[in-house]
Amino acid sequence: MTKVGILGAGLMASQFAFLFVRRLQVPVVITDLDQARVDKGLGYIRDHIDERLAKGRISSDEANRLKALVTGTTDKKDFADCDWVIEAVFEEVGVKQQVFGEVEQYLAEDAVLATNTSSLSVDEIGAKLRHPERLVGFHFFNPVAVMPLIEVVKAPKTNDAALATAMEIAKKLGKNAIITKDTPGFIVNRILAKLLGEAMHAVEQGTPFDTVVEAVKPLGLPMDPFVLLELVGLRVGAHVLETHHAAFPERFFDSPALDELADYGHLLEKDAKGKTKGYDPKALAIVKKHTAPGATPFTVEQLRARVEDGLADEIHRMLEDGVVSAPEDIDLAMILGAGWPFIMGGATPYLDRVGASERVFGDTFHHPPVRGVA
Ligand code: 3HC
Repeated sequence: MTKVGILGAGLMASQFAFLFVRRLQVPVVITDLDQARVDKGLGYIRDHIDERLAKGRISSDEANRLKALVTGTTDKKDFADCDWVIEAVFEEVGVKQQVFGEVEQYLAEDAVLATNTSSLSVDEIGAKLRHPERLVGFHFFNPVAVMPLIEVVKAPKTNDAALATAMEIAKKLGKNAIITKDTPGFIVNRILAKLLGEAMHAVEQGTPFDTVVEAVKPLGLPMDPFVLLELVGLRVGAHVLETHHAAFPERFFDSPALDELADYGHLLEKDAKGKTKGYDPKALAIVKKHTAPGATPFTVEQLRARVEDGLADEIHRMLEDGVVSAPEDIDLAMILGAGWPFIMGGATPYLDRVGASERVFGDTFHHPPVRGVA
């Protein structure tokens, strides 16, 4: 790898730029619609570097070297010598097709393109490329520097060279790469979409937020659904739910309340130091506005059973559809990508243990079932 190109200069793109420059130690160029956005992105990257310096994780020499390796441009010709170009732009197929189209004309034949889409079809994103076979999905998890997973998405046209490059780069970034089929949400987001969709549906039914948090606690995830939504961004969360609802309307909820919360910007209220104090009162009012008269709130037990059965059903379908080849892939993805406690062994042993697998598909994921904690 000699030079990395990043399409986009927002917060996600700047997290990528920092990770790539730090781990690969090669020039990284970012771009966006105009110079002001590019400058803002460069500012974020310098801030990331300064943070690492302040934490004593890198020396000042390295901080200077990393800063010098990152440049910004509005001229796509500056991507000509990049051999890896990844996009981190708005989650809309047309926008992604356009930015790849603009840059492809300048790239060498063997350059590889990667998309960080959270749930869109990689095949569709590549539909307008001259060489769609060099496009691969390369899906990171928030916080990018911390979560040790990348889902490498093999779209129907992705060739072996692009796939091998993606696997090699993931390794150099210090991440574990799991190959997945090009289906909505890939692995982790499909499971999180089920969980978050149920959580938003529950509060839209008048279920108190605390009841939802209590219902999903036994799963052991480090963040409750609402903290997780705030982490990934309410707009991104709403988009992930919409994509799944569009693909599987009978099984996934979208959330009108979350759409409006995304416009508002917050679900949680924070103090001056950024520590969460509770739920933002206006956000609670927005959710209440979307509660249908006569809606029936769930109890902790009812919602827990819905979530567990929903997850067992979805994972069973993912295996039948060949999204991955074995339940262990899903367990590993959830442990590495969403912090499912490794001590519990992953999602499928849990669902076997609580009886959800038996209830939903009359069998268990594991034979014999994995006994253990929780
Ligand atoms: N943003 C950036 N960095 C953060 C952070 C945040 N919100 N929260 C914590 N960190 C960093 C800390 O700075 C620290 O870094 P350091 O080691 O360099 O100092 C490191 O994470 C560990 O911090 P803590 O010791 O405070 O860690 P915690 O025990 O509180 O764990 C966590 C933090 C790792 C974020 C944990 O809560 C977790 O695993 N949460 C689940 C996150 C998750 O599910 N992510 C996937 C979401 S789906 C997604 O992103 C896909 C997309 O397409 C939607």
